[in-house]
Amino acid sequence: MSRPAAKPGKPAKPAKAAARKAAPVTPTAAVDAELERLARAMRDRAYAPYSQFRVGAALVAADGRIFTGANVENASYGLTVCAERNAVMAMVLAGATDIRAIYVASDIAPPASPCGMCRQTLLEFARDPATTRVVAVSPTDGPDGRVGWTLAELIPHGFTGDQLDRPRPAAAPVRAARPRPPRAR
Ligand code: THU
Repeated sequence: MSRPAAKPGKPAKPAKAAARKAAPVTPTAAVDAELERLARAMRDRAYAPYSQFRVGAALVAADGRIFTGANVENASYGLTVCAERNAVMAMVLAGATDIRAIYVASDIAPPASPCGMCRQTLLEFARDPATTRVVAVSPTDGPDGRVGWTLAELIPHGFTGDQLDRPRPAAAPVRAARPRPPRAR
């Protein structure tokens, strides 16, 4: 379906504005069970030939849609992308920006909790970190099999975009970009 062209001088409406405005949903027990099942299934899709450490993730956005990810490694190790961040990227690219809950499945017990980079990424897309749930699950269902936190517990005092807008009393002038030579044709 094509969208109507924007009026001259007016920016086009983002395609997913309606989805973003939807009232936040609180995941039900059935949604949680589905997130757990999907996180475990996604663990099998992990590309982890270097660490052999497989991780799967499944999250539910405030509009009720579910997105999944797995870790994808690289021979240049630092390029590895964690399962959680792959799930978040899928969500953002589909037009959702508010995570309600995420399940992370690994092969260890107690299960692996999200790394710092993933916690910061989750924080960017959680309207209310105090009620956004993060659940880590292991392959077993024993007492060590499942651990849950709120995102606020995992990343208290995190960096957020509003800090970029605060006054910078003692700031030195920002360096200008170095002039670039004209591009060769
Ligand atoms: N990994 C994740 O996918 N999520 C985390 O939160 C922690 C680590 C992955 C990255 C790498 O592929 C492997 O686990 C070992 O660090």
